[in-house]
Amino acid sequence: MTVAPSPRVEELLARMSVADKVGQLIQYFSFSLPEGATSDVVGDVAGQPRAVDAALDAGGVGSLLFVTDPARINALQRRAIAGNAHGIPVLFGFDVIHGLRTILPVPIAMAATWDAGIVERAQAVAAAEARAVGIRWTFAPMVDIARDARWGRMIEGAGEDPLLGGIVAAAQVRGFQGGGADRIPADRILAGPKHFAGYGAALGGRDYDQSEISDQELWNVYLPPFRAAIEAGAGNIMAAYMDLNGVPASGNRWLLTDVLRDAFGFEGFVVSDANSVKDLETHHFAEGPTDAGVRALQAGLDLEMAIADPAFAHLVDAVESGRVSETELDTSVRRLLAAKEALGLFDDPYVDEEAAARVLADPAHRDVARATAAASAVLLRNEGGVLPLDASALSQVAVIGPYAGSKRDTLGPWVFDYDLDETVTILDGVRARLGTAVTVTHAAGVPRVTREFPSLFDMFEPPVPPTGDPDELIAGAVAAASAAEVAILVLGENQEMIGENASRASLELPGAQQRLLEEVVATGTPVVLVLMSGRPLDLRWASEHVPAILEVWYPGTRGGEAVADLLVGDATPRGRLPFTWPRSVGQVPMHHAVTRSHDPQKQGQRYWDEQSTPLYPFGFGLSYATFSYGEVAVSTPECDRDGRIEVTVELTNTSAIDGVEVAQLYLHQRSGTSSRPLRKLTAFRVVELAAGATERVAFTVGPDQRRYWSAATRDWTLDAAEFEVYVGPDATAERSATFRVR
Ligand code: BGC
Repeated sequence: MTVAPSPRVEELLARMSVADKVGQLIQYFSFSLPEGATSDVVGDVAGQPRAVDAALDAGGVGSLLFVTDPARINALQRRAIAGNAHGIPVLFGFDVIHGLRTILPVPIAMAATWDAGIVERAQAVAAAEARAVGIRWTFAPMVDIARDARWGRMIEGAGEDPLLGGIVAAAQVRGFQGGGADRIPADRILAGPKHFAGYGAALGGRDYDQSEISDQELWNVYLPPFRAAIEAGAGNIMAAYMDLNGVPASGNRWLLTDVLRDAFGFEGFVVSDANSVKDLETHHFAEGPTDAGVRALQAGLDLEMAIADPAFAHLVDAVESGRVSETELDTSVRRLLAAKEALGLFDDPYVDEEAAARVLADPAHRDVARATAAASAVLLRNEGGVLPLDASALSQVAVIGPYAGSKRDTLGPWVFDYDLDETVTILDGVRARLGTAVTVTHAAGVPRVTREFPSLFDMFEPPVPPTGDPDELIAGAVAAASAAEVAILVLGENQEMIGENASRASLELPGAQQRLLEEVVATGTPVVLVLMSGRPLDLRWASEHVPAILEVWYPGTRGGEAVADLLVGDATPRGRLPFTWPRSVGQVPMHHAVTRSHDPQKQGQRYWDEQSTPLYPFGFGLSYATFSYGEVAVSTPECDRDGRIEVTVELTNTSAIDGVEVAQLYLHQRSGTSSRPLRKLTAFRVVELAAGATERVAFTVGPDQRRYWSAATRDWTLDAAEFEVYVGPDATAERSATFRVR
């Protein structure tokens, strides 16, 4: 976003008092919670709206979050404008993470499409619905790299890889904003990539724990998706909660100014995470709220997201005492007001309540959700061609599992404004697709598990208590499977077992699901395991005993139809894993781009009790079509340091089914200033290939693909060296060629 001096903003700044300015830098949650909701964190929840009203009446609010009802947004806006001495409207923000009313598949699912166009179209739908209700800013995309499956928030990101992460981040920014942040169209919203930076590296995968990230990992892995999002025009960045290498991200001047502004050229505004300015005291970093506010502002943070008692309120005194200059304050206020101007808020602060209902009901949005869900599913196993099912040959199908008929789980976490009535479960989808000629029986199979330790998030949605006796439920499922020609088992994790505040110490199928799976497989009826999860689960047993495994993530409002389409072959699976799938929790963190290091046994048996390889490699995913790769060719065997090499390969669809292949190029630099990964995703192409068709797929490997940050020189490096390129369907790609950079 370009913060060119705007006459309107400058004129306002000239008239505003210090208190007026500080008010613009505060964002309050405005909760509307279920009756009787309480929380240790929020305290008197019922009192929170009253405190916000008082702040609005005093003109002391720059932004509000968590309101999605257009009538309430208009009412709050009227109050804000009346209460503000200069009539400045508030900016409404919300976590529009995977849809507002139309729920799209979760972000990790969108990333599994590896398709920027699909991702952009999906988030444009989310943006249109949000904007229609008066939300003008989303706290998304989450672009944190995640390599530790214990961390629940991996579901919100694009997985382990900085290249894929950057492409998906940029696509989401384009989808939300429709272009740069200096002028946002009337059906789009401001995007806020988060959490800057390194949140995904939380120690032990424990949400909110500190991150310790080496400089080379920061520059090469964790920061690039942010840079890509900024280059795509993102107008906002959210600072992370945790300590990064011992300094809280929200008070980290190196991060928020030296990196974000000086190195990346970011000109928009930075928002804190919820309470993360006040939390600088909790970190035992700041002395008290004034110190917290001053240090956050001076680090480069512009807007404090607060539940109550914002630390930034103390900036009024800090200006008076001379700790903060009014010029410093102006810099942040200018950024905020520029965003409001770009969003058209000054000229048109209200929302059309009637039009909102029409946009939310748009059937085209449901079609996008369904297509995105179908494109995101990853087929992990298909022994003996169990899938696709031949619908015309079936007469009895069993659909089993606690998530098969659960509307709420089908939608996934981070959604609040959904409509359960229109949510299509996998059970609904299969029933509808197979029609009345096929008997579809349903058994829950096991009780849905509940959280062992209560969470703050329970106040938004009270946990559903488990029902039923596991032995009886499993017996019912076994009977249903025995009587059927195929059993579709929908297993995985409850939607509230993943997301924020939902890390896990185990990757096993929760509750009695593993037992259910084994007993159903023992019936001898062919089993299709449909997995609903946002992280890899321990599938060691399933990967050997269950013929078909389809990861469908949390597929959203129209997920059940998308899954049914895939099961019967109306759609062909085309998703690819955006992360390395470990065998067990003991292997994490795990990712594909590792260096070789000491390796006496070549294949590297590092554990006593487990293989060192993943269960499924990064980039992996089957199709009903099959593909073959020809020899890899390079355009020239040698080039200069700033030269480009074209890498080509012939890709053939060797089947009778049309399909989509994601051709992936991995690079290995054989010597240099640093040791480089054995395989590093460097380029990929999504190729639609008709049955029997062949296409020449070309990639370019130039300086941008070879440059990396080296801890040896503490700088960006472009080495002269020999390189290997591998092209294939996943990170174990075998076909290769070499070239030399002089
Ligand atoms: C999360 C953010 C989110 C914010 C507002 C925080 O707890 O970390 O990702 O945007 O809440 O809901």
